[in-house]
Amino acid sequence: MIKQAIIPLAGLGTRLLPLTSVFAKELLPINGKPGVEYILDECIDAGVKEIIFIISDKKKMIRDYFYNDVFYKKILKKKKDPRIKKEYEKILKYKKMIKFVYQNKPLGTGDAVMKTKKYISGSHFLMLLPDDLIIKNNCSKSMIKIHRKFKSSVMASMSVNKKTVSRWGIYKLSKKLTKNDSVIENVIEKPSIKNAPSNKAVIGRYILPKNIFSEIKKLRPGKGGEIHITDAIQNLIKKGDLFVAHNFKGKYLDCGTMNGYINSTLEISKL
Ligand code: G1P
Repeated sequence: MIKQAIIPLAGLGTRLLPLTSVFAKELLPINGKPGVEYILDECIDAGVKEIIFIISDKKKMIRDYFYNDVFYKKILKKKKDPRIKKEYEKILKYKKMIKFVYQNKPLGTGDAVMKTKKYISGSHFLMLLPDDLIIKNNCSKSMIKIHRKFKSSVMASMSVNKKTVSRWGIYKLSKKLTKNDSVIENVIEKPSIKNAPSNKAVIGRYILPKNIFSEIKKLRPGKGGEIHITDAIQNLIKKGDLFVAHNFKGKYLDCGTMNGYINSTLEISKL
């Protein structure tokens, strides 16, 4: 069973400047709700019981959002507003499930994952990248089913325009296991068009094995001087670990860029 999820939240959010110059991008509202709550709801609905947030000193605001009890209690004492009461109860529910760890230097997703090592108890855990929203279908839930069926690690996959391959991790897939699931033969972080083995991209949902930590430890900085989770995954695949790419059913929304962020509100408002 997958009972733990981790969410890297220490990124600077430069693609969303000026909105992120004093504000954490994951708290920006998408159709009236902070983006990170969509991610939380997806993992809770998928059966996750504990969520580890990887934040930084600069993004303490995210912790404050879940620890603002004094403020809520004061307001609720004065005003018996049922809407505010309901919102506070929701925050309390989230708070009980969240642990915070810190990544103060932006050294990449692999480095962020490493910070959670001592808290991971099961054989596998889920990772969600908060820039990637998936609506209309719970991608984490489907991936957990695939993990159970094939006793494998699983990553979300989507076909992208060939011209944009250098923005993503790109898969080379081999055997098809089901209509929407294939064995990953290779995964390369942000290849050039020339070197891309396909147009199947990594989307930010991963079910990772605990042995990923020892693999990350051995890594040297890769593309852009960062420690990439993709490189650790590639090394585990080379050693024979089974990683499955899951072509998910829902609709993908890229909240990490300004156009994508604006569009995500429009799309969610139509639901
Ligand atoms: C990260 C991953 C990349 C993946 C992408 C999905 O990149 O490193 O492999 O395709 O998320 O959104 P980033 O968006 O941090 O550049």
